[in-house]
Amino acid sequence: MHIYVTGVSKGLGKEFVEYFLTAGHLVTGIGRSHSFDHPNFNFIHCDLYNVNEVKSVKFDSKENEVVLINNAGVIGNIQRVSDQHESDIQEVMTVNTISPMILCQEFLRQTALEKTLTIINISSGAANRPIPSWAAYCSSKIAMDRFSETIYLEEQEKGRNIKVFSVAPGVIDTSMQKKIRASNKVDFSSFDNFMSLHENGELTSPNYVVNKLVMLIRKTESNPVICSLKDLV
Ligand SMILES: NC(=O)c1ccc[n+]([C@@H]2O[C@H](COP(=O)([O-])OP(=O)(O)OC[C@H]3O[C@@H](n4cnc5c(N)ncnc54)[C@H](OP(=O)(O)O)[C@@H]3O)[C@@H](O)[C@H]2O)c1
Repeated sequence: MHIYVTGVSKGLGKEFVEYFLTAGHLVTGIGRSHSFDHPNFNFIHCDLYNVNEVKSVKFDSKENEVVLINNAGVIGNIQRVSDQHESDIQEVMTVNTISPMILCQEFLRQTALEKTLTIINISSGAANRPIPSWAAYCSSKIAMDRFSETIYLEEQEKGRNIKVFSVAPGVIDTSMQKKIRASNKVDFSSFDNFMSLHENGELTSPNYVVNKLVMLIRKTESNPVICSLKDLV
């Protein structure tokens, strides 16, 4: 199996790479930086905020089973939209939505129809409800949910052996949560909730989350496409 993962420098993406290398698979990281030195790991340098770099990513795996995990993501500046700069919206929508969509497109275009494919798009519970000061983030994730459902149907129409998932991984102890806790309370009405999650030890570890998410690859069918960590037992 060959797994392509975006955003492997830290957090969930780094944990995915460690898991798959330990399991003996080939891994290609896609992103701005990494810290791996392993014969089964290679790296494609790509800033997901630069669509031209994203379009040039090559998926040329020789393996029969190939996986793409669109993991990289940004929460953006935690402020109400009317207080944000227009570039805040552009960055969140490009990194979380446009670039993952283009990577899915290139992955499907460049990979032969006979291969067995799995696409896992890392979504968020924020896709399911409005969270003030996360407008672009919530929007970016719900867009990936519907996109995932749609490309799954499209590739079935083409007769491809494919599973597509858009999965909400729960609240994880990564730098994204640190950024949330470092936000300005006056800008963010849910500030106290996220401080409490951390203080009460309610954040899950990236290791726990990855061990659950990899169950998606072993599932026999893509049902449901939109799912969350708690559905994986
Ligand atoms: N943590 C949570 O509680 C939580 C909850 C729900 C969903 N998620 C989702 O889970 C995924 C992983 O998040 P995480 O918590 O592991 O976050 P993280 O620790 O902040 O890691 C984010 C990763 O995305 C990469 N990235 C960001 N901007 C990029 C860009 N322009 N080009 C290339 N790579 C870029 C980062 O690389 P650099 O080092 O280059 O910045 C990093 O490797 C995200 O999609 C996030 O939305 C997280």
